[in-house]
Amino acid sequence: MLVGEKSYQTVWMEGTSVFMIEQNLLPFEFRIHECPTYWDTCMAITEMVIRGAGAIGAAAGFAMAQAFLMERDQDQSLIIREAKHDIESTRPTAKNLFYAVDRVYRAGLISPENALVEAQKVARQDESDSKKIGEIGSALIGKKANILTHCNAGWLAFVDYGTALAPIYLAQSEGKEVFVYVDETRPRGQGARLTAWELFNAKIPHVIIPDNAAAYLMAAGKIDMVIVGADRIAANGDVANKIGTFGRAILAREFGIPFYVAAPTSTFDLECKTGKGIPIEERSQDEVLYQTGTDSNGNLVKVLVCSPGSEAYNPAFDVTPAKYITGIITEKGLIKANHASIKKLMEDE
Ligand code: MRU
Repeated sequence: MLVGEKSYQTVWMEGTSVFMIEQNLLPFEFRIHECPTYWDTCMAITEMVIRGAGAIGAAAGFAMAQAFLMERDQDQSLIIREAKHDIESTRPTAKNLFYAVDRVYRAGLISPENALVEAQKVARQDESDSKKIGEIGSALIGKKANILTHCNAGWLAFVDYGTALAPIYLAQSEGKEVFVYVDETRPRGQGARLTAWELFNAKIPHVIIPDNAAAYLMAAGKIDMVIVGADRIAANGDVANKIGTFGRAILAREFGIPFYVAAPTSTFDLECKTGKGIPIEERSQDEVLYQTGTDSNGNLVKVLVCSPGSEAYNPAFDVTPAKYITGIITEKGLIKANHASIKKLMEDE
């Protein structure tokens, strides 16, 4: 996608280094972060320099390739197994990460060069899946639509295009009149910082709303549809996504508003029979207690926004039961959130 006049992807690999847009600095500063080793790429995923299911999947695949490409004088298989474990320990919830590591690991057992080819394929597939999700999702958007989205499932959360936002980008380019209500998405503010930045760059009309404003807006008839992304989808159609998604789904049901999830097949996990099997990441309480922004001189500052001495609890994801989901927009088509439809989707792989 364009940043100013230049086209960027969220993450890519050149030589043996992985490059990514530094998302912790957005929207205040645009900087590219280089990871020369697999260990640097692991740190970047853990510290959320890169985040979002597809983007961390691609980065993890590249990290696995970096491990295979390392010069080594010790037992190679031991180092590779350690690297795989390190990469898989970076973040627990997004299935795409494990999907990518597994593909690149198996390819790398043939040769390090093969691992690199596979990692690039994973990234290209993420990009093309997102593009198709945009096409399939755009068909669901009317000539004029007010859409609510939560967190960031735009191009920054994938290699390019995104999932929840891809249909919106395409709808606007097709001449549809779209307006986006962007949940700020506490505690890290990925809606207010990242989705708003993406939409602003793409000149898509939007407004940031407080996380607790959705019911008011839905009751007032201001939302026509909800589109969100997903970090992992269980075999029965339960969907793990950024904390707060479940609440939006219940509200959408109450007000008769369609609630769509947009995700590629690399996000589905048939080994998780239901959402109860999805590991939910718990993150540092500091993300709740402190907020980061810029002061009047443009310097990045971190400030305490809660009562000093109190502790915070910070689960990063929740699980929306399948029954609340109108449909899942995948790169292969729109499916129902149920076991039979997901089984068929994955059998066609
Ligand atoms: O914690 P993050 O930012 O990596 O979480 C992922 C997300 O951004 C959201 O849950 C998103 O809606 C789905 S990821 C495409």
